[in-house]
Amino acid sequence: MNLFDVYPLYDVTPVSARGIVVTDDKDQDFLDFYGGHAVISIGHSHPHYVKRLKDQLDRIGFYSNAVQNPLQKELATKLGTSSGCENYNLFLCNSGAEANENALKMASFHTAKKKVIAFKNGFHGRTSAAVAATDNPQINAPLNQQQEVAFLSLNDSEHFKVEIEKGDVCAVILEAIQGVGGLDEPTTKFYQEVANLCKQNGVLLIADEVQSGFGRSGKFFGFQHHDIQPDIISVAKGMGNGFPVGGILIHEDIKASYGLLGTTFGGNHLACVATLAVLEVMEKENLIANAQHLGDYFQHKASEIPQVLKVKGRGLMLGLEFNFEVAELRKKLIHDHFVFTGGAKDKYVLRILPALNITTEDVDQFFELLKRALI
Ligand SMILES: Cc1ncc(COP(=O)(O)O)c(C=O)c1O
Repeated sequence: MNLFDVYPLYDVTPVSARGIVVTDDKDQDFLDFYGGHAVISIGHSHPHYVKRLKDQLDRIGFYSNAVQNPLQKELATKLGTSSGCENYNLFLCNSGAEANENALKMASFHTAKKKVIAFKNGFHGRTSAAVAATDNPQINAPLNQQQEVAFLSLNDSEHFKVEIEKGDVCAVILEAIQGVGGLDEPTTKFYQEVANLCKQNGVLLIADEVQSGFGRSGKFFGFQHHDIQPDIISVAKGMGNGFPVGGILIHEDIKASYGLLGTTFGGNHLACVATLAVLEVMEKENLIANAQHLGDYFQHKASEIPQVLKVKGRGLMLGLEFNFEVAELRKKLIHDHFVFTGGAKDKYVLRILPALNITTEDVDQFFELLKRALI
C-alpha cells in the first residue's frame, strides 16, 4: 500500500529532536523556528514531559470515558488556574478541528440556531462545521458547503452588526491572531464590539485559541489582550507539545447534559499527562513571560533587516512580511541554512512559531542565518 499523497514534502527526515534543534537521518541539525505548525510549546523532548509520559505509560495509557479518570479533573483544575479561566468547564478531545467542531455544535445546541459568522482568511480545521467556517473553498467539499456561514472582513463593525442582528446566528468564531491566514488580528475595539453584540443577540462567541493559546501570544490566551470573555474557547496544538490533544473550555453558564458531547480517545490518561506536563513546565520556566520578552526581542532584531516590510503578530506567534513571495526563501532556509520556518495563506508572510523557551542566542542565530539566506 502507498500513502494517500496529499502533502508536498520537503526532503528532510527528522529522527530525533531536543529543545529547539531537530536532527535528521544524515545527522544534520536544524534550528526549529516553526514547531511543526505551532505544536512544540515547551521544546522537543523536554525531560519533564518525557518522564511524565513514560511514567504514565508504565501505569495505564488509556481507558474509555465510561469510568473515572482523576487526571481529567486534575487537568481541568490546573488549566483553570493557569489560564485565569476558572469559571469554565473542560471537554477534552483530540485535535483543533475537533475542538472547533464541538464548540460550533455546542453553540447550535445552546441557541437552537445554525448560522455561523466567521472571518475572511480564518482557519478552523478540516472537519464538517470547522472547515465550513474556514475561508478556503478548495478544502470545502459539496458536503461541507451545506453549512450556513457568513464570511465577514475583520474589523468591519458595520457589516458585523447587520449580519448578527438578522437573528439566525448561533456562533461567531474568531482567532485572536490569524495563524494560517497570515497573522492579521482583530483590533481591541472590534473584538469588544463583537463580544457585546454576541451578548445582546444571544449568540455564542467562540475564541479559536488552537494556535494562539497556551502562552504563545505572550498571554495565556490571545483574547486576553483585548479584555473580553468568550463563551467557548477552543484549544489544541501547543497544549500537548506533540501529543494529539484538544479541548474546549465552556463557560459555566452553558449547561452540560449526558450524551451532549462524547469521544472515545479524548481525555485519555496519556493526553492528560502530556498537557499537565506542558502546564507544569510553562509555570516553572515562566514561559508566558519568556514568549512576550523573546517576541519583543525578535521584533527588534527584525526591524534591522531591510527586506522585512512589517512584523505581524504577538509574543512568539509572528510573521515577517516581505515584498516577495517567501516560498523560495523557506526552501533556502531549510536546505542551505538548516532552519525550519512556516508559510501562510498570505504568500508574502514567513511564519515564526518557535518553542516558548527559546533564548536570545537562538534568536540571534536565527537572524544570522536569515541574513545569509537573503543575500
Ligand atoms: C486557529 C486554528 N484552528 C484550528 C486548527 C485545526 O487544528 P488541527 O489541525 O489540530 O485539526 C488550526 C490548525 O492549523 C488552527 O491554526
